[in-house]
Amino acid sequence: MKYYKNYLLFVVALFCLTQCKVSKQTIVETTAIATPQIATVLNEGTIATDAMVSCAHPLASKVGIEIIKQGGNAIDAAIAVHFALAVVYPSAGNLGGGGFMVIRLKDGTTNTLDYRETAPTLADKDMYLNSEGDAIAELSQYNRLASGVPGSVAGMFEAHQKYGSLPMETLIQPAIDLAQKGFQLLPIEAKKLNENKADFIKYNEANNYLVNKEKEWKEGDLMKLPDLGNTLLRIQQKGKKGFYEGETANLIVAEMKRDNGIISLADLKQYQPVWRKPIVTNYKNDYKVISMGPPSSGGIALSQMLKMLANFSLNEMGVDNKNYIHLVAEVERRAFADRATHLGDMDYWNVPITELLEDEYLKEKMSDFLLSTASPSSSIKAGNFSVKESEETTHFSVVDAAGNAVSSTTTLNASFGSKVFVTGAGFLLNNEMDDFSAKPGAPNMYGLVGAAANAIEPGKRMLSSMTPIVVEKNDGLFMVLGSPGGSTIITTVLQVFLNVVAHKMTLKEATDQARFHHQWLPDKIYCEPEIFNGPQNAELSKMQHQLEKRESIGRVDAILVKPNGMLEGYSDSRAEGKAIGYTK
Ligand code: GLY
Repeated sequence: MKYYKNYLLFVVALFCLTQCKVSKQTIVETTAIATPQIATVLNEGTIATDAMVSCAHPLASKVGIEIIKQGGNAIDAAIAVHFALAVVYPSAGNLGGGGFMVIRLKDGTTNTLDYRETAPTLADKDMYLNSEGDAIAELSQYNRLASGVPGSVAGMFEAHQKYGSLPMETLIQPAIDLAQKGFQLLPIEAKKLNENKADFIKYNEANNYLVNKEKEWKEGDLMKLPDLGNTLLRIQQKGKKGFYEGETANLIVAEMKRDNGIISLADLKQYQPVWRKPIVTNYKNDYKVISMGPPSSGGIALSQMLKMLANFSLNEMGVDNKNYIHLVAEVERRAFADRATHLGDMDYWNVPITELLEDEYLKEKMSDFLLSTASPSSSIKAGNFSVKESEETTHFSVVDAAGNAVSSTTTLNASFGSKVFVTGAGFLLNNEMDDFSAKPGAPNMYGLVGAAANAIEPGKRMLSSMTPIVVEKNDGLFMVLGSPGGSTIITTVLQVFLNVVAHKMTLKEATDQARFHHQWLPDKIYCEPEIFNGPQNAELSKMQHQLEKRESIGRVDAILVKPNGMLEGYSDSRAEGKAIGYTK
C-alpha cells in the first residue's frame, strides 16, 4: 500500500532526524515558492504558512499563487487558475464546459455557484433514442449534439462580480500568455492527446491544434494555441459578451451547423450561472461539511453517506480492513440508489432534500445493513417520498492569506469532452448532455442510471457528481477538497475526508491511500489495484461482494489546515498536478 510505503519513509526520515542529526530542512525541499522555505516531512504534501493553490497542472497552480502574491484573494486566484487550466490542461480545463464553486470567506460566510451547462432550447427528452426507443451512446457522448450550453466563462464573471478584487483583465492575462507563448506538454497530457488523435480527426473537419499530424506528442513539446489566445483576448476586452455574443458565439453556432448541433445564439446569450444555497452537514459535532446542492448530486450523496457512517467507530475498524470497506461500500450503494431516483436540477424537479437528509430516514436505510454480508443492489431501493465525469473533470483548491477558501470543480465531462473543437476559437466543447438520463434505467458513460428527475428538458441542467467541498472544524477553516472521476468523485471525496478525520492521516497519506467505489448499479465494488490484489479481495468476495479492478479512482487536489495553522496542500500522486504554497 502507498500508505505503508509512505509510513516507512516517514519512519526512516524520523530515524535520520534523531540518529543522524540531519536537519529537517534537508529531508525534502518544499514546493513553497517564497522565502523562507518551509520544510516538510516525507508523509506530508506542500507546507506553507499563508496561501496555497493545488490543481491539475503546475503552471496553473503557479498562476494562482502569483495572483495571490499580487494581492488577489482566493476567488481571484481561482478564476485565474480556471482560465489557465483551459489552456494548459485541455482534457478537462475549459471554456466550453461548466462546473461548481464552493466559497467560504474568512468571516465564515459561505456560498455556492452553479455554472453547470444547460440543455439547449431545441433539446428533447427523447433526443438520444433511436426508432426502437434505445439510447444511442454515441449521440450523447460525441459530436456536436452532445454539448450543453457552456457555463464556465459566465461562472467566472459571476464569481468575480460578487467577490473578486483584482481586475478581470489581470486574471485572464496569464492564460493569454500561456496560449500565445506556448507551454511544454507534461507526459500524461501528451499521452492523452495521442490516445485521442483518431477521435479528434473523426469528429472535426478542420485542422485541430490538438493533433500533431507528423508525429506523436511527447513530453516537453511546446504547444501554442493562437486561436484560443484570441478567444481569451476577446473575453478580456469584451467581458462575458466576448464569449456569449459576437465572434466567439458565431464560431460556436457555425460549429454546431457543421453537423447535428443545436446550440443557438439565443441559448448562448441567455445562459446564466446561479448562486445556490450550500448543503451543510455536521459530522461528529466538530466538523461541518459545506457542499454543492443540485444540480450536483455530490453534496446530498456525500451528506447521506457521512450521516449513515456517523455512528460507527471507523478508526477502530482500520482503513484497509474488509469490514471498513464493506461498510463504506454499503453506505455508498444506498446513497447512489437515491441519487438515481430523486436527484436532478431543482429548478425543474422537486428534489426532496430535507427528507433525503433526515436522520430517521437514513437510520431506516441502514436498518438492513449486515455486518458480514453484502446487501444485493436488487434489494436496495430509493426512498419513497410524497414530494415530487472518462472521468476527466478537474478540481482545484485555493486558500489565500486572509483565510478565504475556494473549492471548484469544472468539466467537459469526458476526456476532451465531445472531441469537437470550435473551429477558429480554439477550444473544445463539452459532452455534458450524457449526464442526463437519456431513458429511465439506461446507463450513461459512468454506468449511472437515472429517471424522470434527470430527464432532458430545454434549459435544464444535467445532474452532476462533482463534489467540491469546504470543511470547517470548530467553526474554523479545516479543509478544501475535491476530485474529478465521474461517479467516483463522491466516493473519492468521502474517503479522503474520512482518511483525514477518522483515520488521522496527513493530507498526502489520505490522498495516496487506495480507494474503492460502489454506485448501487452495477452491483460491484470497483477497487484500485492495492485493494483488488490484496487479501481484501478474497475476504470481501466471501461477504458476497463482487470486486472489479480500476487502475485509478479520482485525482484529488486539496488543502488542509493543520493544528498549528500551517497549510498542507497536496495534488494526487495519481496525476501530474502540483500544490504550490506561499509563505510571506
Ligand atoms: N460530468 C461529470 C459530472 O458532472 O458528474
